[in-house]
Amino acid sequence: MSANNDLIETVLVIQGPNLNLLGSREPEIYGHTTLNDIHASLVNQALSAKMTLRTFQSNHEGELIDRIHAAKKDTDFIIINPGAFTHTSVAMRDALIAIDVPFYEVHLSNIYKREAFRHHSYFSDIAIGVMCGFGPIGYQLALSAIIAKNNH
Ligand code: DQA
Repeated sequence: MSANNDLIETVLVIQGPNLNLLGSREPEIYGHTTLNDIHASLVNQALSAKMTLRTFQSNHEGELIDRIHAAKKDTDFIIINPGAFTHTSVAMRDALIAIDVPFYEVHLSNIYKREAFRHHSYFSDIAIGVMCGFGPIGYQLALSAIIAKNNH
């Protein structure tokens, strides 16, 4: 974690339910890239920028909340794809507000092009920014934005 408040040294990527199935899950919507592939490319990207990047995936709301709480001590910036909890979890929203660590929200698919129940996110109005509909590259774009914050 950064001693200097302005410098981002540690990034945590949090992935919600069913994202462990990426690669085989509804490939027409989510593509063929696996979660391991996404995480490997993010770790490399962070390494090149001399940052530490950790990843966490869970299918359980309580585990996700516990990891968000722990991020208060070990994380400067979060990239989160809450999966279906995007549209339901006041508890995860409250956890992110409680720890006061800045975050970007990422969705592989364009949630606004899909069913109406996916159009509302409990996270977008408290996120620093939202990447939505760019596929796996959305995570890399979010990390690029975090890296760029250190360089200006
Ligand atoms: C998702 C979109 C959500 O609506 C869905 O429940 C997911 C994945 C996305 O990355 O596009 O699990 O967050």
